[in-house]
This record gives sequence, C-alpha cells and structure tokens, in this order.
Amino acid sequence: MAAPLEKTKVGIVGMGTVGSGVAKLLLDYGDRTARHAGRTLWLESVVVRDFEKPRGVELPKGVLTDDLTKITKNPEIVAVAHLVGGLEPARTILLDLLESGKDVITANKALLAEHGPELFDRARALGRSIAFEASVAGGIPIIANISQCLSANQIESLLGILNGTSNFILTQMEERDADYDEAVREAQRLGYAEADPTFDVDGRDAAQKLAILAHLAFGARVHWSQIPRQGIDTLDVIDLRYAKQLGYRIKLLASAQLVEDALELHVSPTLVKIGTPLAEVRGAYNAIAVVGDAVGRLFFHGLGAGQMPTASAVVADMIDTVVGRTGITFRTLELWSNREARVTQRDYDNVLGRYYMRFRVDDHPGVLAEVAGALGRASVSIASVLQQETDQLRPGENHVGPQSAGESIVDLVIMTHKASEGAARRAMEDISKLPSVRPGSVRLRIRG
Ligand code: NAP
Ligand code: HSE
Repeated sequence: MAAPLEKTKVGIVGMGTVGSGVAKLLLDYGDRTARHAGRTLWLESVVVRDFEKPRGVELPKGVLTDDLTKITKNPEIVAVAHLVGGLEPARTILLDLLESGKDVITANKALLAEHGPELFDRARALGRSIAFEASVAGGIPIIANISQCLSANQIESLLGILNGTSNFILTQMEERDADYDEAVREAQRLGYAEADPTFDVDGRDAAQKLAILAHLAFGARVHWSQIPRQGIDTLDVIDLRYAKQLGYRIKLLASAQLVEDALELHVSPTLVKIGTPLAEVRGAYNAIAVVGDAVGRLFFHGLGAGQMPTASAVVADMIDTVVGRTGITFRTLELWSNREARVTQRDYDNVLGRYYMRFRVDDHPGVLAEVAGALGRASVSIASVLQQETDQLRPGENHVGPQSAGESIVDLVIMTHKASEGAARRAMEDISKLPSVRPGSVRLRIRG
C-alpha cells in the first residue's frame, strides 16, 4: 500500500464567485491537485466578510470563518488564495498575509495595477511570493506564457480582448439585439462583472490588465491610468450596425506595440474585420495575439471571466506555490522592482491608426465637402464614405444648422487611411464646430 500523501494546509480569503470555484476544485478534485502537487492541498480555513451569507459550496465544519487571524495566526497554513476585490481592505489583507509568512495567490488585478510596487517589494523583503495568473484573462495562462515560456523572445506586440464582461455585452447586443443595461445585468448575474461593473465597461479593467502584461512583456513601468482608454460605455448600437454593414465587428481591444523602441499602449473599442480570429471571439471569452521575435505569432483564446476558468488559474498557481516553482520565478523576475524601465511609452498623439468616424449632419449640399476639407487640412486621408438615406431629426434634438427643425439629417460614416491620433482628434474637433454637424460625433479605431 502506498504511503499516505503529506498534507499541505492552504487557505482562502474571499468566497464569492472565484473563491467558491477554488474551494470546489480543492474539495471535490483533491486527487487531481494531489497528483500534480505530490501532496494533498488541505483546505484549512476560508475567511469571508459575512459569516451568515449562504454559500454555493458546502465546506467541512469549522472551515468557514469571518476572522482573518484564523489564517494569519495559523503557522501551518502556507499558501493563501486572496480573492477579495477592490483596493481596501484587499491591500491590507494581502499585506497581513505576507507579514504572517504566507505565500499569496491573487486574482485582484486592480490591486496589483495600483499597489504592485509596494506589495512585491514587501513580499521580496519577507522572502514570500505573490502569484497572479488569474488576474489577467481568467483561465488563459497568459502570465506564465509571457514571463516564462516566451522568455527567449523580445515580445513585439500584444493585442487582446481582456475584459470578458465587455465582450459578453457586445456579443449580446450584436447577436441578440439585447439592450445594453440588460446585458450588463446578465454579465453580473453570471459572475463575470466586477463588484462595480463600471470598471468593466469604461475600459479600466482592461487597462489594469494591459499595464500588468506590459510590465511583464516589455519591462514597461506604466501606471494603468497613463494608458489612453475608451470603454464600451460610450458606444451606440448604431455603430455596431454600421460596422457590420462595412464587414467589421467592434471589440474592446487592449493593445501594446513596440514601434521603434517606444511602446504604444491603448484600450479602445476597435473595428475588427469579420472572419479574423479576434472578431470571432464571443461572449465572456478573451483572446490575446502575441508576437515574439523568435516564436512568431501566437494566439491564446479561452474564458476570461467566470467561476471555474478563473479558479483553474488560481489552483494551478497554488500548486506551483506549494511545490516551490512560484518562489523561483518570483525571485528571478524581480517584478515591480526598482529596476529601470526598459522602454518608454509613446505619446498617444503620435500613435498611428485607421479610424471609423460617424457624424450626424444636415442633409444639404456642400456638407460632405466641408467634412472632407477639414480632414484634408489635418492630413487625414479618406478611404471610404457611407451615407445613409435621410432620417428625420431625432425627437428632442435642437437644430444647430442653418435649416429649420424637422428638416432631414443623415449619418455620414467615413473610414480613413492611417493617420496619427493627434491629427484625427484635431480633425474631429474642427468638424464638430461646423454648423451643419450635430453633436455626438463618434471616432473609433480600425484594426489593421
Ligand atoms: P465577489 O464575488 O464579489 O467575492 C468577493 C469575496 O470577498 C466575497 O466572498 C466577500 O465576502 C469577500 N470579502 C470582501 N471583503 C472581505 C473582507 N474584508 N474579509 C474577508 N472577505 C471579504 O468577487 P469575485 O468575482 O469572486 O472576484 C474576486 C477577485 O477576483 C476580484 O479582484 C476580481 O477582480 C478577480 N477576478 C474575478 C473574476 C470573475 O470572473 N469573477 C475573474 C478574474 C479575476 P462576502 O461573501 O462575505 O461578502
Ligand atoms: N470582470 C472581469 C472581466 C473579470 O469581465 O473580464 C475577469 O478579470
């Protein structure tokens, strides 16, 4: 008979969507984790805020508590999954765990993107580690790939759909004609959204994840708030329809590209050609296209949000932590260290791109020429023009042009050739001042 496996005690702080998934994997599939870890991962304590709240997982008696010291004062617990969102008390809890000698596994990208330097410095000083695979792209092992598997490469670009909630909402709107607010509520119900879903839809969550990836892949030291971003909260369903008519889907893309030794970073709703891999990413799936100078192009695709995909990443990190792999990587990578940035960020105004522009204009002679003139003066070249049949003035809209209320207005959609962000922005500002152009002009990036 084989000797019983050694037990390694672990804990969880936070038992919401992700924490419950981690508990399920540890309790129901202990044989699987034991096989990979060479020991039993024994779930000793789970700390929550509200002890009375019903949980989706049945825990052995005495495991659930609302007292963090059940973990911090228990020297037998060596690794803890930190699955509390937000900045505080999440930051204090993570520091308490490190101070009490625990290695930590976290899914909280907001916390890492905001307090990474402090947390990683403290972990290093205490000889502990922080693993964070689940913090970016849920179940896709993108952190391990970038920081370990691709370490022979200079990464040249990363282009990804990094927020499952936004992609889910866009898919629901595009394929089921769902109302925006309804789609947000559904994403919350399914456990994809952050506690405050504003973070998902305004591009902040994707910018935080991009800041983490840019740090690992390029040695960038860019705070997430310095990444230019636009979310899907400003999109109008009419733009999804025009995009489709033109052969594109709109995706919230997070982009990091090394161009002549400077790093171009942004998060933007982007028109992506239908039929290309990123355009076909549906629902809460995430995808990341990585280009490395030795490996070439790689494409990662998988569920980027939700209970079990995220728990899969957390438990794998927990196994790596208890067997010692995380500690080695953590020490050698010197994450968020004082090491100087290897690359600087390019001023967004100088980043080149193609644009989709939509204007609501009075349908009278000369308007197209005025708009084209403003683009020409800014050196923005037109690739195609789409003008809808006439429409009536929308209810409640004030007439700002030279005509009287009730006369027709139309959507004028222009696709441009490559131009700098600064030139495109200035052209839009000039066009918006034209008397025949109504408020609410839209500008989106086009991939390629
Ligand atoms: P959640 O469902 O809101 O769960 C958060 C948990 O934290 C709850 O169980 C809550 O306890 C607990 N908590 C809050 N304050 C606490 C405190 N002071 N002490 C102890 N426990 C406390 O959140 P989630 O969706 O699981 O997300 C957790 C983290 O994972 C977040 O950072 C999120 O960004 C990240 N993440 C989530 C996903 C996803 O798909 N959901 C994917 C990747 C990463 P109570 O239940 O008692 O209120
Ligand atoms: N709210 C996040 C998303 C969870 O929708 O992508 C995964 O980080």
